[in-house]
Amino acid sequence: MLDISEIKTIEHDVLIIGAGGAGLSAAIEASSLGMSTGIVMKSLLGKAHTVMAEGGMAAALANVDERDHWKIHFRDTMRGGKFLNVWRMAELHAKLAPVRVRLLEEWGAVFDRTKNGLINQRNFGGHRYPRLAHVGDRTGLEMIRTLQDHGIHQGIETYMECTALDLLKNQKGEVCGVVCMWRETGTFVIFKAKSIIMATGGGGKAWDVTSNSWEYTGDGYAMAYEAGAELMDMEFNQFHPTGMVWPLSVKGILVTESVRGEGGILLNNEGTRFMFNYIPERFRSETADTQEEAARWLAGDPNARRPPELLTRDVVARAINDEVKAGRGSEHGGAYLNIATQRSAENIKKKLPSMYHQFKVLAELDITKEPMEVGPTCHYFMGGIRVDADTTMSSVPGMFACGECAAGMHGANRLGGNSLSDLLVFGYLSGKNAAEYAKQRATHSEIDKEQVNKIIQNATNILNRESGANPYLLHEELEQNMQTNVGIIRTKDTLETGIDQLDKIKEAYKNVKAKGASQFNPGWHEALGLRNLLITAEAVARAALLREESRGAHTRADFPGEQKDWLNYNIVSTKGMDGKMQLIKVERPVPDSELERIAESSIEDLEIEIVQERKKEKA
Ligand code: FUM
Repeated sequence: MLDISEIKTIEHDVLIIGAGGAGLSAAIEASSLGMSTGIVMKSLLGKAHTVMAEGGMAAALANVDERDHWKIHFRDTMRGGKFLNVWRMAELHAKLAPVRVRLLEEWGAVFDRTKNGLINQRNFGGHRYPRLAHVGDRTGLEMIRTLQDHGIHQGIETYMECTALDLLKNQKGEVCGVVCMWRETGTFVIFKAKSIIMATGGGGKAWDVTSNSWEYTGDGYAMAYEAGAELMDMEFNQFHPTGMVWPLSVKGILVTESVRGEGGILLNNEGTRFMFNYIPERFRSETADTQEEAARWLAGDPNARRPPELLTRDVVARAINDEVKAGRGSEHGGAYLNIATQRSAENIKKKLPSMYHQFKVLAELDITKEPMEVGPTCHYFMGGIRVDADTTMSSVPGMFACGECAAGMHGANRLGGNSLSDLLVFGYLSGKNAAEYAKQRATHSEIDKEQVNKIIQNATNILNRESGANPYLLHEELEQNMQTNVGIIRTKDTLETGIDQLDKIKEAYKNVKAKGASQFNPGWHEALGLRNLLITAEAVARAALLREESRGAHTRADFPGEQKDWLNYNIVSTKGMDGKMQLIKVERPVPDSELERIAESSIEDLEIEIVQERKKEKA
């Protein structure tokens, strides 16, 4: 047995794993409450998928259209999520987002401004009004910059290039620490904490075409699962409609929805603006169904209905997929996204500077003159660790989760821009509640040596065995499998094939081998991340097989359309006593009647109600 007294131990009251927008927001809140707070991250500070939410953060500030209100944001979110969202989470989000965005502004975030000097807001898919506070198309980046600057000055300790391997629990079953590995030296370190917040983002690296970078291997899901937590709604993976499709070397890189928010249109190879043919009944009354009306919207008529390119992401991604399948795709298998005919070159460069640069450098294409080629790319997980809406604590005491890592807020489909505000709101709630939990514990728990040994053994076996499967090849197999069998359109057959393949990859993984020593060993890091990806992918595929309906981002060709009965269930995955994944259908609680009324009101009724409410408040 390893002598664990030789392993360095670091203590914090609250420890956060993951340093994107959620982790940083949580850390700022916990440390502002007087907690010794640390953040462990496997990459560098400032490098997080948060930056891929380029177009903005959604909050009903009502700076651009004064009709906006939390109730309308809430209604949009529930409808976008196909009513599968945890109602309380969507309520908290819509109510708290404006306050958190203003606080970010106070902390120094730069925003584009209205003529009156207020934070400017832009249109985005599924949002009734211009609602996304933004700075050009670099909003996520600005958010991270502001949060890290604020957090560091507040005294948060950061631990970069430090991979969390697995969580430690005390005899009462509470989370009390985590074993990590410094990527540079390959040495281990134990963090002791009174509460731990999982903020590791998603697991998009299980797919071949993805907007996610190398870090997104589902680490939080897998560590939580191994520690006994529940994963919920894992079948709902968002395929963002617009990733780059050409050149191949950059396939999947995000093309922000702001291109469509600023007026960009989607065309097929016949020059048809095809989204007019894909307007779902639920959104018909709120969507422009003629070129003329869409043109009125583009000209700034506040009463024109939104163009069909601003339908929710699930709808747009499926439409592009259908056009390609019907032989009407673009040259390299996507659709054409044209902003050049809609806005002036000056305007495009001002509002979409990153996109202009990205296409110039990566595709040698000038988006002020030519259309882009785009197609769906795996972008986001709506599912994740099941948490309590108010406290964000999971079913494992002391383990909290927020951001993409947590389930519930977005239901079956997330609206663009709701991710950044989610990070601010639920990061804050996690930090607050994890701090309160930690305050109630006077001392750190004793660390169980056996647990530490097991975690280290599992990690070092990958280096120490004589021979075995190559982690890079296994990862590639996994990506191909998920892309082909657990992609945007699913059937029983593809999912069963996908699960069979996953079983084979899991079997091979038992013997995975990384060559070389523990220092600077990317093959080892790859293999460690692969364990987490395999757990994540299995949870997705099995939940997708179980949910026999099409809802939001989960499309079953063999079960078209939403099934009323399925609205009553979440799918929850846990690790069974036999070590196998177990899935159950869990009945959802009855929604609060007032929230249900708001979500189901007609937009006209809701607007009248808000006007009356505001009059009363003024009187
Ligand atoms: O398209 C985008 O800018 C992405 C935003 C988001 O995922 O929220």
